[in-house]
Amino acid sequence: MKLIKTDSYEKLSRQAANILSAQVILKPRSVLGLATGSSPIGTYRQLINWYNKGDLDFSQVTTVNLDEYCGLAADNPQSYRYFMNTNFFDHINIDKNRTHVPNGLNPDMEAECHRYDALIESLGGIDLQLLGIGHNGHIGFNEPKGSFEKTTHIVDLKPSTIEANARFFESIDEVPKRAITMGIKSIMNAKKIILIANGQDKKEIVKRAFFGPVTPEVPASILQLHPDLTVICNVD
Ligand code: F6R
Repeated sequence: MKLIKTDSYEKLSRQAANILSAQVILKPRSVLGLATGSSPIGTYRQLINWYNKGDLDFSQVTTVNLDEYCGLAADNPQSYRYFMNTNFFDHINIDKNRTHVPNGLNPDMEAECHRYDALIESLGGIDLQLLGIGHNGHIGFNEPKGSFEKTTHIVDLKPSTIEANARFFESIDEVPKRAITMGIKSIMNAKKIILIANGQDKKEIVKRAFFGPVTPEVPASILQLHPDLTVICNVD
């Protein structure tokens, strides 16, 4: 594991964007695994900046997002598809047909899980996965539990996650209670992983996840076993 400590959100975002842009430059047909949430917004902003300067070309890139809420349509401003479009895809020259987010509206969610795993496999897996981390150690929506869930699955969100995400909604009652998320196996199969942890309030979980025992009670702790993990944080 490589741990990069920075002293500002801007520097953290720049470090993450550096690694992502190197990936795209070295392999224009990269498959990028992407995350939503507040942490990667600065990274996407930095990549858009470099794209606008003519330094990056996303025309051959494919993306697969980690997760989506169940029951939210793509044009719902709280959906992760909408987040990705407005924070990243709408501002770069990526082919939207190559951008993938689980479909939270599929009436058969089991089928949707299988479809998403098959899609990732058909793409040859993920070259570089960008992750955030929840205060309870979740990655994607892989919440703490008794065992690691390997494949794409449906989760009942923990009250702490619903509470943390309520900041993006009008009221806590509007936060969906279920989500679809990529499993630990697809994440761990990524050739390279970057995890960003922004802010002092992530200090405790960073310590537990990367300097404590590997346990499904702290899902991110499994990343300690990944051969190419970079953790970028601005906690002391
Ligand atoms: C979102 C995701 C989540 C977030 C995590 C941290 O796609 O995968 O695991 O990364 O909840 O969220 P923020 O960055 O808002 O603190």
